[in-house]
Amino acid sequence: MNNNDRVIIFDTTLRDGEQSPGASMTREEKLRIAKALERLRVDVIEAGFAIASPGDFEAVKAIADSIKDSTVCSLARAVEADIERAAEALKGANAGRIHTFIATSPIHMQYKLRMQPDQVVEQAVRAVRHARNLCADVEFSCEDAGRSEIDFLCRIIEAAIDAGARTINIPDTVGYAIPHQYAEAIRQLLQRIPNADKAVFSVHCHNDLGLAVANSLAAVAVGARQVECTINGLGERAGNAALEEIVMAIKTRADILGVHTTIDTPHILATSRMVSGITGFPVQPNKAIVGANAFAHESGIHQDGVLKHRETYEIMSAQSVGWHTNKLSLGKLSGRNAFRTRLEELGIQLPGEAELNAAFARFKVLADKKHEIFDEDLQAIVSDSLGEEAPEHFRLVHLDVSSRTGEVPHARLVLSIDGAEREASAQGSGPVDATFKAIESLAASAANLQLYSVNAITQGTDSQGEVTVRLEKAGRIVNGNGADTDIVVASAKAYLNALNLMQAGVRKAHPQVADV
Ligand code: KIV
Ligand code: ZN
Repeated sequence: MNNNDRVIIFDTTLRDGEQSPGASMTREEKLRIAKALERLRVDVIEAGFAIASPGDFEAVKAIADSIKDSTVCSLARAVEADIERAAEALKGANAGRIHTFIATSPIHMQYKLRMQPDQVVEQAVRAVRHARNLCADVEFSCEDAGRSEIDFLCRIIEAAIDAGARTINIPDTVGYAIPHQYAEAIRQLLQRIPNADKAVFSVHCHNDLGLAVANSLAAVAVGARQVECTINGLGERAGNAALEEIVMAIKTRADILGVHTTIDTPHILATSRMVSGITGFPVQPNKAIVGANAFAHESGIHQDGVLKHRETYEIMSAQSVGWHTNKLSLGKLSGRNAFRTRLEELGIQLPGEAELNAAFARFKVLADKKHEIFDEDLQAIVSDSLGEEAPEHFRLVHLDVSSRTGEVPHARLVLSIDGAEREASAQGSGPVDATFKAIESLAASAANLQLYSVNAITQGTDSQGEVTVRLEKAGRIVNGNGADTDIVVASAKAYLNALNLMQAGVRKAHPQVADV
């Protein structure tokens, strides 16, 4: 395969993915995901939108400073202040990219930008030149390209390439395209733009009609060589093209597509789980590649076929995307060194010895309750040690719940609040409801509970439950996580984690609706 057969994988989980309502992440969480993406060998990580908020700036900067093998990118509207903020955040990057965009469809230019097409071209060129003065690697996106006129796209893209853009992105911002029509638009752009050979053409498809992956692959088939996608298809509204589906389609159907990526596919499942755990967006069981049933064969005929010859019913192996990692990992007698080594093998780095000791202590407590500790359990254990951005203002000291048929469930708990112990009790419609009411009676956060979800981390009734609690207050949304073999305790931990995150503060701005 030559270089022209390589499709660049541009992951935007941390930027477009974070635009999913409720998916905001802390700087530490973003850093963890960025490291997992680097391990997956993603080519470009879009780390955020540096000007959106001080938190976004800090997250892009932290990722730029620590990621070595992937290019780190920041989004910027086509305005000087955005571009300068992006360049500032990317200063420490081994390889940095500024991704600047302006809308090009008649509807966006007229109603959102209130600009004439000539002004839009002028502003795009100014922005790309300015970005090129600050960064060698500049990507230009025509927002809402899917509904833009092809002649206008040819004109603005030619000018952007002349101004120095080396990647040209053709987003289907509103998920309106149909595969053969989108592919035809990409084909025409590649053919008609005289300097098209000086840039990589990229696609960025939204999933409003469920066609994001199909549209992206149709574009690859006619010459697009970068795909913008997200883990689990996270993203604005119905989401973006799912990275795992794009990568595995390219790998599995190399016979048809004739291209490849350099993604290290066995890390796909762990990355998917990490993103799901951090954002609180569960993965549906029948989701391609990473859903719990993606490689499960229920019918006897299928099971028989797979046992005789796997390929009768499987087009790729479960191991090739990481399903084999669900193996017994450590036991009650395992020591600190074995624990540290297994974390390293899983690509998990704890910030220091104190965090390692705290995680090891939690491992011992869990190992006493649960005979078999799996990799997923270890991931849940360490996630508590990685939440540096949420100091423990609230901590669970003791929880006592009673729930009997015919009686109203009741919770009594002790919280440590800034080091001082306080006790409360409450009744509720169930033990979790009673626990949350008791916590609220002490915390008085007045936050709205937007989501409560429980997932079993591994199989069996002794599995740890991983709980996500999403709280909202005055437009600020946080996701708290907690894991325990007792799901009421896990719920209390998740609620307290969300309250602690809320105290730490996370606020997001939105690139597509912000005025240029
Ligand atoms: O969907 C879109 O158009 C975007 C751009 C900012 C690239 O996310
Ligand atoms: Zn988008």
